[in-house]
Amino acid sequence: LVTGGAGFIGSHLADELLRLGYRVRVLDNLSTGKAEYVDSRVEFIEGDVRDADAVERAMRPSATDSATDAAVAVVFHLAAMSKVGPSLHDPDMVKFCVENNVVGTENVLRSALRAGTVRKVVYAASSTFYGNQPTPFAESLPMKISSPYAVTKHQGELLMRVYDEVHGLPTVNLRFFMVYGERQPESGAYAVMTGIFLAQRERGEALTVEGDGTHFRDFVHVDDVVRSMILAWERAELRGVTVNVGSGRAVTVNEVAEMIGGEVKRVPPRAGDLEGTLADTCAAKRTLGFEARKNFEREIREMVR
Ligand SMILES: NC(=O)c1ccc[n+]([C@@H]2O[C@H](COP(=O)([O-])OP(=O)(O)OC[C@H]3O[C@@H](n4cnc5c(N)ncnc54)[C@H](O)[C@@H]3O)[C@@H](O)[C@H]2O)c1
Repeated sequence: LVTGGAGFIGSHLADELLRLGYRVRVLDNLSTGKAEYVDSRVEFIEGDVRDADAVERAMRPSATDSATDAAVAVVFHLAAMSKVGPSLHDPDMVKFCVENNVVGTENVLRSALRAGTVRKVVYAASSTFYGNQPTPFAESLPMKISSPYAVTKHQGELLMRVYDEVHGLPTVNLRFFMVYGERQPESGAYAVMTGIFLAQRERGEALTVEGDGTHFRDFVHVDDVVRSMILAWERAELRGVTVNVGSGRAVTVNEVAEMIGGEVKRVPPRAGDLEGTLADTCAAKRTLGFEARKNFEREIREMVR
């Protein structure tokens, strides 16, 4: 079961699981995801993780299925209010983040435990946990609060650990850094920098660099992120851990603009934007056997063409 499987990362994960021969079910409310990203071989359930009954149904073997392999063996939990920006502006968004990212996550965990067939829950955690502090970010660092999004994504991690340590349901938290690649959002409140720049370049517009462009991000390709999630599932003994999923390389906004090319327009810095993110990748190598393979510059230049 992939929650959020119609979204940017979740749809790539579903595609790869199908390619590997798994049967895939997706639960998604299509709030930011798109039905056209969902492969026709996926069993698609349009539903909300805030709705405990919908989650419970998604965890059961489908009514038409008598085969025992139709039971849910692993849950990849990606459904969430998924971006920092929209979480910052309006106090009502704090409640929205709590409902989607905390209550939704608890519904998923409770149903997964009750199903009795789920052998692991893999959670899409976030590098926003680290906020503004010196890089690189090792998993052992304390949390620095930067947004309602970051806090509620971290509460999701804690719930994973509660269900693992108190109720014996194996879980793994993967803290994704800045994910990029095909299907990344390009416009609207949920857009990401690489998507915005590529769309601006395609329209022949100047690239809008916020602030002086020296803030930096650890970009990790969606294919690498998908591989990390599958490794977290396939390593049967791995549980109760929190692991960074980044490339271990920092790229400044100015460098991204330069790779994409063309005119640059400076605009005021975005309130609440983080100064820099960079993953310490040692734990990922040690515990997951994971290392990012995609080269950011090569991939971005490829996407420009
Ligand atoms: N993209 C990144 O750089 C990044 C970094 C760190 C963590 N993450 C996490 O990875 C996950 C996927 O992110 P993404 O970039 O693919 O975002 P996305 O918005 O494309 O995907 C989220 C999916 O969840 C669905 N969804 C949202 N709320 C739901 C709800 N209440 N019930 C059911 N479905 C719901 C959306 O329709 C969408 O398909 C999220 O949990 C996000 O917090 C992403």
